[in-house]
Amino acid sequence: MIQVCDLYYSYGKDEEFAVNGISFEVKEGEIFGFLGPNGAGKSTTQRILTGLLPVQKGKVRVMNVDVSATTPDFYNNIGVSFENPNLYLKLTGIENLEYFASLYDVPTEDPVHLLDMVGLKDVAKKRVGEYSKGMQQRLVFARSLINNPKVLFLDEPVSGLDPSTS
Ligand SMILES: Nc1ncnc2c1ncn2[C@@H]1O[C@H](COP(=O)(O)OP(=O)(O)OP(=O)(O)O)[C@@H](O)[C@H]1O
Ligand SMILES: [Mg+2]
Repeated sequence: MIQVCDLYYSYGKDEEFAVNGISFEVKEGEIFGFLGPNGAGKSTTQRILTGLLPVQKGKVRVMNVDVSATTPDFYNNIGVSFENPNLYLKLTGIENLEYFASLYDVPTEDPVHLLDMVGLKDVAKKRVGEYSKGMQQRLVFARSLINNPKVLFLDEPVSGLDPSTS
């Protein structure tokens, strides 16, 4: 499902690499834990794998597609949970999910079901700006599942979650 070969990435023009020659492979059905210290390049790698940053050097294939040449269909098939909750704070939880669901060309999950699954059904109609950090993180996780993705990318998905709900 994922093939990364000799991947490098530098944010600047210098030779300081945020990602410095990594290779790995993830097969269908596998859960791959991508671990490393702060600043190791985990989020940068995820940004490249999801097409947010370009491939500068190396080869990256996700679902057998070269991520340098993705089509909208690529995004119909992946789910992404970001390191920092990037939600519409003035919209409610359900409005956020409904909005993001509308961006896909594939059948989407029922927002109420997803909110229920992450324990946010009772606050579905509350503005996300009034959610706690952990509640926002749970909503981002729910959003990553909205299009029934074949590949799910989760960047620190349990950050801010209390042990009883994570
Ligand atoms: N937008 C950016 N512009 C410039 N440099 C960046 C940017 N984002 C990250 N970096 C640098 O790239 C390197 C890797 O950062 P990255 O965020 O990928 O690490 P990480 O492994 O996800 O760390 P953490 O565990 O803290 O989330 C770091 O040296 C960081 O300073
Ligand atoms: Mg990170």
